[in-house]
Amino acid sequence: MKAFNDLADFTTEELEALLELAGRLDTHPEPEALKGKVLSLLFLSPSLRTLASFQAAMTRLGGGSFVISPDMSIHGLETRPGIVMDGSAAEHIREAVPVIASYGDAIGIRAFAERKNLESDLAETEFSALTSLIDTPYINMESAMGHPCQNLADWKTLDDLGIPANGGKFVLSWAYHPKALPLAVPASTLYTAARRGMDVTVLRPEGFELPEPLMQKARGAAESAGGSVTETNQRTKAMEGAHVIYAKSWSSTKHYGDRLGDQALRNELVDWCVDEPWFDNAREDCRFMHCLPVRRGVVVAERVLDGPRSVVIQEARNRMLAQMAVLHQMLGSGS
Ligand code: CP
Repeated sequence: MKAFNDLADFTTEELEALLELAGRLDTHPEPEALKGKVLSLLFLSPSLRTLASFQAAMTRLGGGSFVISPDMSIHGLETRPGIVMDGSAAEHIREAVPVIASYGDAIGIRAFAERKNLESDLAETEFSALTSLIDTPYINMESAMGHPCQNLADWKTLDDLGIPANGGKFVLSWAYHPKALPLAVPASTLYTAARRGMDVTVLRPEGFELPEPLMQKARGAAESAGGSVTETNQRTKAMEGAHVIYAKSWSSTKHYGDRLGDQALRNELVDWCVDEPWFDNAREDCRFMHCLPVRRGVVVAERVLDGPRSVVIQEARNRMLAQMAVLHQMLGSGS
């Protein structure tokens, strides 16, 4: 495997093999599988789970890892192309990325969306610029529109819970958050649930429609896998018979890159906090999913997050197992 960037790059058989391997590595550890291998981890955006789970994954497989981020004691990191570097940063990513990559056998890169220009973010301009600087295998640890490690972990969580693929009803719901957040998780989660063959409903207020190219990609995946994709702003209708609600806040696409426009729209939507009445006409055992971090009492009520519906900790642990499977296939003896 040369890259783990988007689940759409893999056949269903390949994804099933990764999921099977993730489960096997949990029950049958392979502590020497990646002996002597090194994973470079470049975080241009913050993290808790991704950072810790990749380090844990490499250690459990017998390899090692190191982390570089702009917050560390480095020489400042300039990312803008064509810049005259007469400010505080003394290091440019054009040198830093290939240097970091040269110390490892593979590199993981996290770079959130700039959220200035939707077309540029949809085209993954920044992430592609970073990966064009290296020739080692790479892993997308979250880019403008993708979070494939989260997606693989969430797919495993759905499997672990016995939630059906075909016939399973998955609600991807916008939730209130005081800030405009990136589209990576909603975009790639939508694709993942559709690709799994589920009946997916995007529940979102007006102004927070997901961009049409993302909806089209998901509709195509659902069609091939025997599922469906619909969208609505009607909560009761969306939740009818739902097996799972996956909550996430995201930026207004209507006001993308316009902080004040987005803010004015979202200020009216503080009641989009997932709470128990949301589940009134869902299945009794409807689950609550979220990639974390999550703001308690803002995105979701504490009684849901701490209650039996919530599977957020399972999702987070599955990050480590899913990534172990990816690393095993990317760096293991059979790679
Ligand atoms: N879900 C997730 O990627 O968490 P972090 O941002 O903490 O890595």
